[in-house]
Amino acid sequence: MSTQTPRLEIRNITRQFNGRAVVDDVSLSVMPGQVTCLLGPSGCGKSTTLRMIAGVDMQDAGEIYVDGKLVCDTVFRIPPERRSIGMMFQDFALFPHLTVAQNVAFGLKGRAGDHTARVAELLEQVDMDGFADHYPHHLSGGEQQRVALARALAPRPAILLMDEPFSGLDNRLRDEIRDHTLSVLKSAGTAVVLVTHEPEEAMRMADEIALMRNGRVVQSGAPYNIYNAPKDRQAAAFFSDINVISGEVQGLTVDTPFGQFLTPAQPDGTRVEIVIRPQHLKIELDRNGTGPSPTPENGVAARAQVVRARFMGAESLVEFRMDADDTTLTATVPGVFLPRPETPMWLMIRRDRCFVFPQGLVTH
Ligand SMILES: Nc1ncnc2c1ncn2[C@@H]1O[C@H](COP(=O)(O)OP(=O)(O)OP(=O)(O)O)[C@@H](O)[C@H]1O
Ligand SMILES: [Mg+2]
Repeated sequence: MSTQTPRLEIRNITRQFNGRAVVDDVSLSVMPGQVTCLLGPSGCGKSTTLRMIAGVDMQDAGEIYVDGKLVCDTVFRIPPERRSIGMMFQDFALFPHLTVAQNVAFGLKGRAGDHTARVAELLEQVDMDGFADHYPHHLSGGEQQRVALARALAPRPAILLMDEPFSGLDNRLRDEIRDHTLSVLKSAGTAVVLVTHEPEEAMRMADEIALMRNGRVVQSGAPYNIYNAPKDRQAAAFFSDINVISGEVQGLTVDTPFGQFLTPAQPDGTRVEIVIRPQHLKIELDRNGTGPSPTPENGVAARAQVVRARFMGAESLVEFRMDADDTTLTATVPGVFLPRPETPMWLMIRRDRCFVFPQGLVTH
């Protein structure tokens, strides 16, 4: 256990609008140099959470601490500008009448002339050197975004709050700027809360992901853990397409075309869903109607026909119709393989990659 004090800690914060809790009992802590991603669908309360941490909105319950010191509860409140918190919001706005360099220098104390070196360093970090004297309306959306990032980093905040900061950038630039930004923030010991609704972005950036739904954190943990041990079907589905095989519990197991699955602690008659990601379906060619033998790792093979196969570059997406019950399942396979429709094949599922949930289970 680390005894370090979190740079940022929020405890049980709640925010209501018109009697509805849009942020509901959320707690988080972020260590220096760590990135926590708030990940969740539109409207789940991500930006509202950030606004309370920044101090531009106030919670109805709960407390916020920076380096172990209370900055805000429901009676006491340190104003936003004294929290050492930098912000880069979804609707960031550069000052139109200031040049790029003046925008970046805006939050720095002292005389404008003192900041030339720092501004140049920041512009280089975001790959915008050469634009110092340009005005915002001459920049593309992505360029403006990078200037806004430099402006947020300029005062070396202890905590940086970022709301979808990379959404306007094209792919190549985005990966480069993300990685670069991360290394700058990590070396400065900045604690980052990054809001995104893209799982790939969260997995790439985060030390910890807090998965939000309806104002609550439903699961949090390292990207690896949250991807490989989702709490419910929706949490699994947030990170990739999923296949769902339904069945009913009898004697602690459920029968499926892929053999029996254990269903710990569910009474007989409970409907359960076995969830499996497309890359964990294994496929084999049909050899005169016989399939591969059952194995403990992959269970029983079940026969299916290709409905369609789509080439996606590195991989192909193959949709199957199961012989047993006409349901469809999707597998991703290496892109060199692109079977024709109606090809009979055998499917197996990786037992160790399945998640079994009671049907309708939703974590609150
Ligand atoms: N000032 C407000 N008054 C009333 N309702 C609000 C207010 N601010 C936010 N809401 C509501 O709170 C909910 C959460 O909003 P929030 O902006 O935090 O969502 P989000 O997770 O950031 O979504 P997105 O990914 O679309 O940006 C939404 O239903 C929104 O309409
Ligand atoms: Mg938002």
